[in-house]
Amino acid sequence: MCGIVGYAGPAGSAADTSQRPLDVVIEGLRRLEYRGYDSAGVAVVAPDTAQVSSRKKAGKLVNLTDTLAAEPLPNATAAIGHTRWATHGGPTDRNAHPHLADGGKLAVIHNGIIENFAQLREELIAEGSRFLSETDTEVAAHLLAREYRLAGDLSAAMRATAKQLDGAFTLLAVHTDAPGTVVGARHDSPLVVGLGEDENFLGSDVAAFVSSTREALELGQDQVVTITADDVTITDFDGNPVEPSPYTVDWDASAAEKGGYRTFMDKEIADEPQAVAQTLLGRTDRAGHLQLDELRIDEALLRTIDKIVVIACGTAAYAGHVAKYAIEHWCRVPVEVELAHEFRYRDPVVSEKTLVVAISQSGETMDTLMAVRHAQEQGAKVLAIVNTHGSTIPREADAVLYTHAGPEIAVASTKAFLAQLTAAYLLGLYLAQVRGTKFPDEIAAVLADLREMPAKIQAVIDSGDRVRMIARWMDSRSVLFLGRHVGFPVALEGALKLKELAYIHAEGFAAGELKHGPIALVEPGQPVFVIVPSPRGRDSLHAKVISNIQEIRARGARTLVIAEEGDEAVLPYADEVFWVPQSPTLLSPLVTVVPLQIFACELATARGLDVDQPRNLAKSVTVE
Ligand code: G6P
Repeated sequence: MCGIVGYAGPAGSAADTSQRPLDVVIEGLRRLEYRGYDSAGVAVVAPDTAQVSSRKKAGKLVNLTDTLAAEPLPNATAAIGHTRWATHGGPTDRNAHPHLADGGKLAVIHNGIIENFAQLREELIAEGSRFLSETDTEVAAHLLAREYRLAGDLSAAMRATAKQLDGAFTLLAVHTDAPGTVVGARHDSPLVVGLGEDENFLGSDVAAFVSSTREALELGQDQVVTITADDVTITDFDGNPVEPSPYTVDWDASAAEKGGYRTFMDKEIADEPQAVAQTLLGRTDRAGHLQLDELRIDEALLRTIDKIVVIACGTAAYAGHVAKYAIEHWCRVPVEVELAHEFRYRDPVVSEKTLVVAISQSGETMDTLMAVRHAQEQGAKVLAIVNTHGSTIPREADAVLYTHAGPEIAVASTKAFLAQLTAAYLLGLYLAQVRGTKFPDEIAAVLADLREMPAKIQAVIDSGDRVRMIARWMDSRSVLFLGRHVGFPVALEGALKLKELAYIHAEGFAAGELKHGPIALVEPGQPVFVIVPSPRGRDSLHAKVISNIQEIRARGARTLVIAEEGDEAVLPYADEVFWVPQSPTLLSPLVTVVPLQIFACELATARGLDVDQPRNLAKSVTVE
């Protein structure tokens, strides 16, 4: 939530410095816009100027770039930029970041929420600070100005400021007294450093600078970083030096480009076979045993686990629902799935015998992070399934299984969901291996099935024209989704995609629940997607869903059926059939969800909506 970029480049005279700082920051904001897009702003510090120069504008980034074209900023050696998802104060020019203080000599941008801002604001107003916005961020700007007057050093002032703030924050600041310097601080909110040649970068994530460098440093919790063109210094909030942890980003800028597709979402759906294949790569040792990426839990302890709780939000939570079916079946250990924000605040029963599995694309979702910490405080071990290296959740977890979906830019998740499902299957098989609930050859057989899934997903994508056509014709104001067993979370995800992208009413139901209420919604012409389980799977499941289709069709529903190739039993009751390749039941969500993603994406595009940046949403929800 909110994207942050900072840049320090080569110092020089005002005449020979280029616009590179500003260009880098604008390019970074373009790549981070998925994190928030209701306003954007930049500030630069030109050498020998008395004031920071800044521009900020409500609305998408293009409004800011148009303003910059009309009112250019001076050449500079340092710049910061921000793209906002409003929390305190509406999305107006005035509330956009940066916020200035110290007579315009200091500029601050912020991601997160400062919880004690009201009290600090009163204090600062009493001391003479003048506030121009309704944001919590402006408090940090004035506080930093006050601390700077005391310390005379921007890094020291940032440390003193950070210690007084409650809540979650990443802050970046520039000051005219230190023209080539950007100072940052992080607490419960992301910030990474990019290392260039004679230039350095800061970003909410590596997408901010990956077109310039793939060499990065992780920042830990409660650290302050100071960058100049040729130096990076990191300390904790007390000023003690911190040894940075360097890493190389394993994807390049082209992975975060549209690559000729209409939208990022179109591209990310097309990337799905690869996302699954990459997530499966390199998981076994020479003896064929499955391994996690990072394991800071004793395997003996994993054998004593008597309960698994999956915590996640949004799409990741639906991946957790599928994980429950697979893990319970393969490992015979009870699995609960809970939304992270509900888990965190309901006094959950967890102990050192509970394994908590946190699923998150970003690794930064605040609700999930808080739930992880809560579980650890109760003595539980936490295993993270995460897509973004260097993010907070995997750093704090006791074990990590990375999904290798590559960067996901569209706000609503598609390829990351498939990678999360894949990782959840791998985790189930790994636990079955450790706990001895499956024979090695049984595990190898499921792995072999999993390796066939990328080609099957590709086949669904290749046959997507029919579902696209239906989506373009769809004029209903409401769509229902039904599924049983693993088809149930797929129905929930299909409905979520449609709500997020097309803003139309959509609901997913367990098909067995139909007669207990939802069938009352069915009236003539009501479109209902039904995910039909394999007829080769569990005996009665298929027949029961066929009965459900008959029941809604008898009441006038328009049935849009997702069924396995060769399942002719659906034909008499389906107005439309979208075929998917035959797959083992537990793995089938990897193919059945794809037509639903394509449907939502196409319907929203046909209505002229921005599928990559749906209204009111942000990709990384870094506030509770
Ligand atoms: C936001 C996004 C969703 C995502 C959810 C969880 O709501 O719009 O697409 O599923 O956050 O995000 P995470 O990064 O934790 O998977």
